Amino acid sequence: MSLKAPPGPSPFGFIIMLPGLLLNPVVKLNAVCKKYGPVIKLGIAGNYSYIINDKEIIRQILKTDYIKFPRGRTLDEIKFLLGNGIFASEHELWSVRRRLLKPAFHSSIFHKLENVLKEELQKTTLKFQEFASGGTPFEPEAEFQKMLFSATIRNLFAGKISADTEPVIQALNKILAYPGIPQHTFRVVKKQYLRISGMKDKSREEILEAGRVIDKFTAGILDWAINNPEECGTYLNILLNEFFEGRISREDIITEMKNIIFAGYDTTASALTWLIYSVSVNPGIEEKVLSEIASTGVPDYQNVTRLEYSKMVIKETLRLYPPAWVFHRISTEDFEAGSYHIPANSWIFISPFLMHRNPEYWDNPDDFYPERFEKEENSETTRFDYIPFGNGPHVCIGNSLANFQLIYSLAYLLPKFRIEFRNKKITGFTSGIGLKADKPLKAIIRERK
Ligand code: HEM
Repeated sequence: MSLKAPPGPSPFGFIIMLPGLLLNPVVKLNAVCKKYGPVIKLGIAGNYSYIINDKEIIRQILKTDYIKFPRGRTLDEIKFLLGNGIFASEHELWSVRRRLLKPAFHSSIFHKLENVLKEELQKTTLKFQEFASGGTPFEPEAEFQKMLFSATIRNLFAGKISADTEPVIQALNKILAYPGIPQHTFRVVKKQYLRISGMKDKSREEILEAGRVIDKFTAGILDWAINNPEECGTYLNILLNEFFEGRISREDIITEMKNIIFAGYDTTASALTWLIYSVSVNPGIEEKVLSEIASTGVPDYQNVTRLEYSKMVIKETLRLYPPAWVFHRISTEDFEAGSYHIPANSWIFISPFLMHRNPEYWDNPDDFYPERFEKEENSETTRFDYIPFGNGPHVCIGNSLANFQLIYSLAYLLPKFRIEFRNKKITGFTSGIGLKADKPLKAIIRERK
């Protein structure tokens, strides 16, 4: 039996939905999935993407046949940043690097990362006290970005940072907000338009400049670390050993560091913001989290592992607000997606956001209900309908570290401060790589007595 093409909007329907896809892709794609079902063809005139919203097909793509579905080419737009590092390299190099770097993220070394994380949280506490005494609204995410950027760089790369971190954070924010990256089909259409009109893509020039800022910062950190190897972080330590053995070049190390800068702190800062937001706006959650923290003792790397309810709150936050709301693969061969045919060389969308709000898999998917993770089957990490960190061999290498940073920060900050958000309802999201509210999340803060 020959399989048919998946359903999706007509060419005219696609043109009508383009502005929505550009301005608010998350909400638009959610509506598209509700209308067309688990496998959708989206695009126009030979430029098609396929959205997969079915857990068994996602299992096939991310795990069973993962070698047939590489990620590399989907990141071409930011190749200047990722090079042939762990995120964008082909299978062979990726598997060598993944094996090499994995120990840098193992939970058995988290006790070594605690001091730096606590120091950075202390700095954030001083900032929050200032905001509290001034009574001025502020954006918690900007503060969490600074804190987690410093904690990540110091713990993974080098104990001390002498350069100003602000321009690097701004540079990465620009890259992550670059609207062309998640919306492949729109990007293709936009490129044609720029070519025909002879216009320059200004945002492209800006992100290339942002890439140079990150290059310079990373090279500076590496030089410092080479001269101070005893103060090297877990990740750079592994890479420097390879360097001194002549198995990796300086450029390759810089590339791997930039991959971590790309993947490793904004995601967690975003998750922490959504976590504090969810705790603050959903009635009854804050009291339960606070009482659990109080009953477990001073937050340290051991005590936080016992915060079972808080862990479910984190899981539920990552379900409703997965910071990496979409990622992509390319099909290298024709394949059967359920009862549909998808041709080779197709661009595949997998979206944690869409999967996590799919009523096929979740009861009352839009409700914040941490207790749903009490059920055995919901806490399983082998699920392919719960994928905030992806799944299969490319599952996030930093997932345990991120969870540690999240629970530790929650246990440290929440008993000290009450953060009240001005945005009671989220109306939409921005169009970049990360899941950000379209109206920045602003809050006022009070110190608890
Ligand atoms: C809440 C925080 C985080 C979220 C939501 C997140 C999400 C993800 C997702 C969804 C993927 C899989 C992408 C795909 O399959 O295409 C991924 C991969 C990855 N993440 Fe994370 N991540 C987080 C934190 C971190 C941290 C803390 C680090 C390191 C410091 C990190 C480093 C990486 C790397 C290197 C990969 C590529 C793994 C591979 O292909 O082998 N991430 N992350």
